[in-house]
Amino acid sequence: MSTVKINQQKLFPIGLGTWHMGEDAAKKEQELEALRTGIEQGAVAIDTAEMYGNGASELLVGEAIQSFKREDLFLISKVYPWNASKKQLPISLDNSLKRLGTDHLDLYLLHWTGNVPIAETIEALEKAKKAGKIKAWGVSNFDVKDLQEMYQQKDSQNCQVNQVLYNLGDRGIEFDLLPLMQEKQLPLIAYAPLAEADRLGGQLSASSNLQEVAHNHQATIFQILLAWSIRQGQTLTIPQSGKAEHVKENLQAAEIELTKEEIAQLDKDFPKPTTKQTLSII
Ligand SMILES: NC(=O)c1ccc[n+]([C@@H]2O[C@H](COP(=O)([O-])OP(=O)(O)OC[C@H]3O[C@@H](n4cnc5c(N)ncnc54)[C@H](OP(=O)(O)O)[C@@H]3O)[C@@H](O)[C@H]2O)c1
Repeated sequence: MSTVKINQQKLFPIGLGTWHMGEDAAKKEQELEALRTGIEQGAVAIDTAEMYGNGASELLVGEAIQSFKREDLFLISKVYPWNASKKQLPISLDNSLKRLGTDHLDLYLLHWTGNVPIAETIEALEKAKKAGKIKAWGVSNFDVKDLQEMYQQKDSQNCQVNQVLYNLGDRGIEFDLLPLMQEKQLPLIAYAPLAEADRLGGQLSASSNLQEVAHNHQATIFQILLAWSIRQGQTLTIPQSGKAEHVKENLQAAEIELTKEEIAQLDKDFPKPTTKQTLSII
């Protein structure tokens, strides 16, 4: 099983995404069950953001984790770019901590680049770290030029992850961003690893090569997508599901080892990029 080390902590490589969760009262019990099942089945990392449902996702996560030991979890949240200033970031962070019912985050991410200078955001994040409110910080939706700019700033070496969109149908980062992250030993958090359940036209589900690889492992195509997303190590993948059955299925994907031949077979339908691609964002 591939593992991922973030901020010196070895984590189970499949975490729980939570976008769109906590927004519909009718789904609340089912979503709480999905998150709790995920933790019981081995998930450690939970990914949320102040943006998700305007705090509704953080509230749901806060409720779901109440009966678990805080030290067994790795909580990730994100600050809006317009709140990433020295003045606003501490306020956003306190609000996130309150909604999550915790006194610290394991990782706090700048959700995407904005108008606040990155040097100021880093200063605010470092201050939050010294105050014990976050253990570490990272960035999200940073392309090569954003990382290069960041690495010119003081304390930038403390950046612990870059969270970007990555799935078999969208491999753009492999051209230049991923090599840069590997050079900098910056772990990847892969978001939308299921391509939002193959929402865009079903191009993944239609692939006979993907179906065949899934058949070889007696797995679903979604499990293969997750195993593929973490195949190189140094990656945490964060599929989202509001259904306990799907969460169980997703976490079991950590046991699937794809062979070199299978990876090459998937390359046939979904080739590696050979030119620079604009970073995909949702
Ligand atoms: N940093 C960023 O800017 C950013 C952007 C987007 C997402 N994210 C993070 O990444 C997480 C994952 O991305 P995402 O939610 O956009 O997309 P995703 O994880 O690729 O796909 C989520 C969809 O897949 C379905 N699903 C999950 N497991 C399944 C299974 N085993 N079989 C069939 N369907 C399944 C879910 O529906 P069911 O509920 O029916 O299972 C949901 O509709 C987010 O929740 C969020 O935490 C971050």
